[in-house]
Amino acid sequence: MRAPRGAATVPPVGHIQHIPGIVPTFPVPKAAQLKRVGVLGLHEGRTMLTCLDRAAHAIATAGCDLDPDKLANCRAQCPGLFFTNDYAALLARDDVDVVAIYTPDPQHGEHIEAAFRAGKDVICTKPLVASMADAQRVLAAARATGRQLLVGQSTRFFEPFLRQRRAHDRGELGALELVDAHYVHRMDWYYEKSAWVAREADWVFLGLSHPIDLLCWYLGPIRCVQAMGARSALAQHHGLPGNDVFTVQVTAMDGRIGRAMGNYGCHELPSARNAIELVLWGSASTSQAQYHDMRHRYARPDGTEVTEDPLYALRHHYFHSEVHGMHYGEFANYAEHFAVSLLEGTRPAPDLRDGIATFCVMEAVRRAIASGRTIEVAPLRAEAGLED
Ligand SMILES: NC(=O)c1ccc[n+]([C@@H]2O[C@H](COP(=O)([O-])OP(=O)(O)OC[C@H]3O[C@@H](n4cnc5c(N)ncnc54)[C@H](O)[C@@H]3O)[C@@H](O)[C@H]2O)c1
Repeated sequence: MRAPRGAATVPPVGHIQHIPGIVPTFPVPKAAQLKRVGVLGLHEGRTMLTCLDRAAHAIATAGCDLDPDKLANCRAQCPGLFFTNDYAALLARDDVDVVAIYTPDPQHGEHIEAAFRAGKDVICTKPLVASMADAQRVLAAARATGRQLLVGQSTRFFEPFLRQRRAHDRGELGALELVDAHYVHRMDWYYEKSAWVAREADWVFLGLSHPIDLLCWYLGPIRCVQAMGARSALAQHHGLPGNDVFTVQVTAMDGRIGRAMGNYGCHELPSARNAIELVLWGSASTSQAQYHDMRHRYARPDGTEVTEDPLYALRHHYFHSEVHGMHYGEFANYAEHFAVSLLEGTRPAPDLRDGIATFCVMEAVRRAIASGRTIEVAPLRAEAGLED
């Protein structure tokens, strides 16, 4: 993956690092070749519409939402772009190369297929799909049309997770012996904001998609899954039909192991447990990446614990100059990565196959909870239409 702007320089180690000299200026100069992005779903998608001032190879051209208030707000913020409440009108436009999808989880399959069949490449937010039928549908549509897709797994593209990955790829952690990820977040605000979440969402997809994607990123194909689920008091209060508290254990095809945890009814303890954390336990070192703080911690060979903390240096890129905020930097990073991969003909990651493989692990979690048994993932990959 091409390193995002402002992240190419890995600073010298020290206990607390603030990276000097990386204060981005906006807007970023645009490259000669650009991918033009139309955004569907303008709540989380509004972030994508407005973050591309920090991407060199992507530009926003259009937005679509059914809600007139969201359209009016985006129109005021982004004058000059095309806005519509009709997805077909967005898909018909010649100035949209890539459709970025931020509609409710159960609609992703339908919206991805429509974009592929209109000749567009797709960024789809996590979870890529939330049913086996939709997994089969988007794979079949991709094969029929030859279009490309990137899963917008924002966590992979947040600064500490990028640094942790580069350290892993340089071999600094040695062999991974345990991968440990969680996403915890109290969700009453989400039930109040978006009625579909309490009614239709499954937290295995909506929430666990973050830590399970991280396990898949490092462990590769997963052989089997064990999982337990429970319903918090918050879930019961909002009438959720399913679980919102989870523990998951996975074994990879190569025998390595990992665990994921999610809790969407919790009372948060953010300084002790950031919303998302990934700990890589390796034979040569241990490292931790955090979101919403921006820390990357690791052990040096002499045992010194190092903390890189670029929050203040990079808040202009990752947030809107607030200390914490929306996902502007991550969304810009993955849009830039996808645009460059399309322009250069390289494979984006996580692509459609990666996303379907991760879906199959999440589906295995659901089936493991329902049955109380260990679930093998290979039959689910075959059911989805992924050849191993
Ligand atoms: N870290 C992340 O990347 C991240 C964070 C939050 C949410 N998400 C994902 O983003 C997606 C959207 O979440 P949200 O919180 O913005 O939901 P939301 O309910 O706030 O917004 C969804 C929007 O889609 C619009 N919409 C629905 N159907 C449409 C259609 N046919 N045509 C046009 N517009 C349509 C709705 O009007 C609404 O404005 C979900 O899949 C969620 O999982 C990702």
